[in-house]
Amino acid sequence: MKVELVTRKGWTGKVLAALMFDGDKTPLGIPGDEGTAIGRVVAEEKFTGQLKKTALLRSVAGSSRCILAGLGKRKELELDRVRAATAKALKRAEEIGAASLGLLIPDSREVRLDLDRFVSAALEGAILGSYRFDKYRKPKDDEPKPVGEFVLVFANPKNLSAAMRRSVAEALAKSEAVCFTRDLVNEPSSPKPPEKMAEIAAGLAKKDRITVKVMHKADLEKMGMGGILRVGAGSHQAPCLAHLTYTPARKPRKTVVVIGKGITFDSGGLSIKPWQGMEYMKDDMAGAASVLGLFRFLGTVDIPVTVHGLVPLAENMPGGGAQKPGDIIKHYNGKTTEVITTDAEGRHLLADCLAFGSELKPDMMIDVATLTGACVVALGDEISGVLGNDQRAINKLIALGKQEGELFWQLPLPDRYRSQLKSKVADLKHIGKVGQAGTITAGLFLQEFVAEGIPWVHIDIAGPSFTKEDWDYTPIGGTGIPVRTLAAFLGSL
Ligand code: BES
Ligand code: ZN
Ligand code: MN
Repeated sequence: MKVELVTRKGWTGKVLAALMFDGDKTPLGIPGDEGTAIGRVVAEEKFTGQLKKTALLRSVAGSSRCILAGLGKRKELELDRVRAATAKALKRAEEIGAASLGLLIPDSREVRLDLDRFVSAALEGAILGSYRFDKYRKPKDDEPKPVGEFVLVFANPKNLSAAMRRSVAEALAKSEAVCFTRDLVNEPSSPKPPEKMAEIAAGLAKKDRITVKVMHKADLEKMGMGGILRVGAGSHQAPCLAHLTYTPARKPRKTVVVIGKGITFDSGGLSIKPWQGMEYMKDDMAGAASVLGLFRFLGTVDIPVTVHGLVPLAENMPGGGAQKPGDIIKHYNGKTTEVITTDAEGRHLLADCLAFGSELKPDMMIDVATLTGACVVALGDEISGVLGNDQRAINKLIALGKQEGELFWQLPLPDRYRSQLKSKVADLKHIGKVGQAGTITAGLFLQEFVAEGIPWVHIDIAGPSFTKEDWDYTPIGGTGIPVRTLAAFLGSL
């Protein structure tokens, strides 16, 4: 979708959308007599500005059609409502066959939020809400066609500043990164084996800014990456590890390691999963996809942070060479772990990477993984679990997530449950008591691989990485969670 910024005088389109608060008589951005006149039409239509509701008016404000989208109550306004309302307006524009949609941007005095962020949220809602994955299907003739152009129409030309253009460009890059992540998750497993994913990672390299090193199976053997190797051993597709590095132009203030679980298919291995729902296990690389999405975004911004992305890639299959229950894995840092079920595979890849990442002496490590079904039981499919040893970072992540419309909830890492990971034959057993606190014991397992003194946050996205129903601006499929929150987090350091 093409995006443009114009003043109201400079706008030449046909279909205009305007946002309206519940309880107001006129839409935002149309003051004076013109507003009063429109107010009468709005009243006739019985449109009240209810959140996510839309109305279609004819020829107002110089347009040939006008879409009104409700923002809900003025005092309850938050950025995520702007995303939802704009996505609804765009959907309505698709339904009436608009090739281009203008969105009237109110003056900064009309909304309590910072206008840059208001506009960015509107753009995100439009782009993320109109995303579709049509690579393998031919849209039916009667399906609404995508709107090709989205124009931000500024009611007050003064607000169309250079700073506004910069923040819109950033929101656009962020939204495109999310769509990139969604595409990777939505892609079926077979066309995206580990080495193919690594190739995609390598494609993110950017001169002077982002370098990508791929460690192939033979390299992993030399390094002693037992977790990645053993999990990948049951597949014809060799496992590998992509190491991306973002080097800022300015002197870095911090170094952060971001790790993303990249199981390109999780059959469960020999501890094979039941067939019902197994098709969703193509999404077990959503952590990896969000790290790659994050790097795509990093390629467009200048932040004073060195970022290492570690993306361990493997296919968890029950082939002849597969790891077996009872096997013992030796990890990168020499620690050994006893395998009880080959379906608890993600933690083994992450363990290698947390140990390897610790050697990079970062100020913080963050890992993102579709790690446990238990997290979906605890928090449902719209809230990610967050655990870790750095309370300030966790609080910040939760707060930023709320602004981004990506929800996180913290679970504890109690010392008392650590004893569940005792093994008679290895340094650690890889799971705790069956059916109890599975997200927490997985977190405790990971913590064993984080070197002393390194702040660390673990994000379990087993639920929110993929949706089986349409959300406000997130269609069925990969969601791209938590790319926007991670981007905001790195930007805040
Ligand atoms: N990839 C799954 C977790 C998962 C479940 C992701 C549902 C998305 C939706 C993970 O590898 C897994 O299988 N975990 C097991 C662990 C258990 C065997 C200890 C689980 O949660 O059942
Ligand atoms: Zn898995
Ligand atoms: Mn599994």
